[in-house]
Amino acid sequence: MDKFVIKGGPRLQGEIPIGGSKNSALPALAAALLTDEPVTLRRIPRVRDIRTMQRLLVDIGSHAEVDGETIRLDTPRIVSSEAPYELVKTMRASSLVLGPLVARTGRARVSLPGGCAIGARPINLHLHGLEQLGARIHQSHGYIEAEAPEGLRGATIHFDRITVTGTEDLVMAAVLARGETILRNAAREPEVADLCALLVKMGAQIEGAGTSTIHIRGVEKLHGADHTIIADRIEAGTFLIAGAITGGDVTIADCVPEHVGALVAKLLQAGAEVTQTGATSVQICAPKRLRSVDVTTEEYPGFATDLQAQYMALMTQAQGIAIVVETIFENRFMHAQELARMGANIRLEGRQAIVAGPSELTGAGVIASDLRASASLVLAALAARGETVIDRVYHIDRGYEKIEAKLARVGGQIRRVE
Ligand code: EPU
Repeated sequence: MDKFVIKGGPRLQGEIPIGGSKNSALPALAAALLTDEPVTLRRIPRVRDIRTMQRLLVDIGSHAEVDGETIRLDTPRIVSSEAPYELVKTMRASSLVLGPLVARTGRARVSLPGGCAIGARPINLHLHGLEQLGARIHQSHGYIEAEAPEGLRGATIHFDRITVTGTEDLVMAAVLARGETILRNAAREPEVADLCALLVKMGAQIEGAGTSTIHIRGVEKLHGADHTIIADRIEAGTFLIAGAITGGDVTIADCVPEHVGALVAKLLQAGAEVTQTGATSVQICAPKRLRSVDVTTEEYPGFATDLQAQYMALMTQAQGIAIVVETIFENRFMHAQELARMGANIRLEGRQAIVAGPSELTGAGVIASDLRASASLVLAALAARGETVIDRVYHIDRGYEKIEAKLARVGGQIRRVE
């Protein structure tokens, strides 16, 4: 298993290019199952979750051709309508094939995801929505079986709570359903809008993507398309925080500045200078010491839960007390204990973490518990005295492409050891 060895101290300076969004690429790949014509997806990040999804699609019947950041998927026939436990347990987003499979073939068998490092993460809302579209759902032997032999039919679905992949799954189910579907309290995340943009290129009729009410008029058939995935806003946010935590001067290139708006607002309040330097670039110039600023995670356009761990690392270095409230997942504070091992002063009280800063962080051996928690440890290590060794970096490889190379190009002292 690979480890990262990071020597803290250097002030990061320079430009970091952002890759395509993992959480946008995953549903886009699943959407290719909706047609028997080829779908070409560009700017696909080369991360482990994408390879897992690709494996799943190949098992289902897709032919995949990969050329750098471009994947061409061709699924003339579905040979298996199943997402097995072996894949779903390593990547919960595998449940994104549920909607497309039921829509295209009238049946799907998908393993239930089970618990995970950041919370229970059930898929009941995906299933409830599919039932409303006319699917019959059974559960047995740890698998969900969905069947709609006569095809799906449009319905009005009101989500009990906002779910990103749930919205994506149901949009993909509804595009081939008979009649009109209205999704209310839908997720407004840019990844949902990006998926809808791809589906529209494939011939779907969708209105309201990116808002909380999405209207879909079902069509008989979808066709092939060519689509470029949006920039990864969480990668962009992580590197903005890397600039901030090292008192650096870093330009984040090839991103969508609007998508990191909530984080930028916090960084400005904390005393950093953040400037949009072009249509797709943002520069952060941070003083040695920032002020503590509270944060509460929310659905988009609020502060992303996927940046909470990284922001907490930053607050260990800011002056004052910051209250970090996690409202999306019930157990997403695993990084707090590891940050404390490096010297951070963090008290957990239910869904809130009270971070008292600044603390002097010192290098230590730490363990990555999930993707974003690992990113927060990398950031803390960049600001720590001495050397930090982060174990189990396969978590970080699930969602960041060559994070060590990107940090090294702006002066970070980080290397991967096998
Ligand atoms: N929820 C339910 N029932 C459901 C679905 C969700 O109770 O059927 C709950 C969840 O347990 C959670 C909340 O609703 O408490 C929101 O979960 P959501 O469904 O929105 O999360 P997700 O779609 O499983 C996506 C991202 C996550 C990101 C969340 C929240 C992908 C592939 N994953 O997950 O990304 O944290 O939205 O923004 O898009 C990551 O990239 O590190 C990551 C975890």
